[in-house]
Amino acid sequence: MYADLQGKVVIITGAATGIGKAIAKRFAEEKCKVVINYFSEEENPEELLKEIEQGGGTASIIQGDVTKEADVEAFVKFAHDTYGSLDIYVNNAGIENEVPTERLSLEDWNKVLNTNLTGTFLGCREAAEYMLKNDIKGSIINISSVHEIIPWPHFVHYAASKGGVKLLMESLALEFAPDGIRVNNIAPGAIDTPINAEKFSDPEKKKGVEKLIPLGYIGEPGQIASCAAFLASEQAGYVTGTTLIADGGMTKYPGFQAGKG
Ligand code: BGC
Repeated sequence: MYADLQGKVVIITGAATGIGKAIAKRFAEEKCKVVINYFSEEENPEELLKEIEQGGGTASIIQGDVTKEADVEAFVKFAHDTYGSLDIYVNNAGIENEVPTERLSLEDWNKVLNTNLTGTFLGCREAAEYMLKNDIKGSIINISSVHEIIPWPHFVHYAASKGGVKLLMESLALEFAPDGIRVNNIAPGAIDTPINAEKFSDPEKKKGVEKLIPLGYIGEPGQIASCAAFLASEQAGYVTGTTLIADGGMTKYPGFQAGKG
């Protein structure tokens, strides 16, 4: 737990499921005021809200599409109107789909780039504008991926979007450092979330992924939420422009683990 997080106002995009949900729960436990953004009712944001409130936490939900400028502006206005501030913004909403590149449609390309990269840009811009205007030394955290580093055939739109998020984050960290606004990424590896549910329900596919993880197991959303709480806290006060990789070692060339080159 991080005492300085108490009372801070945080927006998390795509927060009704998976990693976003775990982050929302963690910030609620840290006694933050949590704005849960969700996209579709199917994600059942009310259930998360109930869970947080029953645990004594404070949260509100707002529907919206991170690719729409007006929606992202509305998230920040909502946080201000509801809780009077914005201290932490977590760009978590993201999508992926597998398509061999020769069949990748422009529509699919645009959809993934719009959500993962443009959505993150809009969140960073709106959060930074609010923090600058109100002299808030806030923290912006983007949920990126190990694929901001690792190339990924059949997911080239996803990898391109996450590579983009890496340099977006680094550039913004430099730009806003004089104002005391910190900007960082978290790069999760393979985590047990709905985005991976189909893949991990196939034991062969799951085993294939586990082989790529030196620690030997698929991560839990709460392990990513711990990274987010740390990055938002004063304990990470000197950390900006960096990616906190939480991947069980996946980015460390597991093929070389046996000591053979
Ligand atoms: C993706 C997962 C994938 C993991 C490791 C993540 O960014 O969302 O589907 O298992 O990277 O490849």
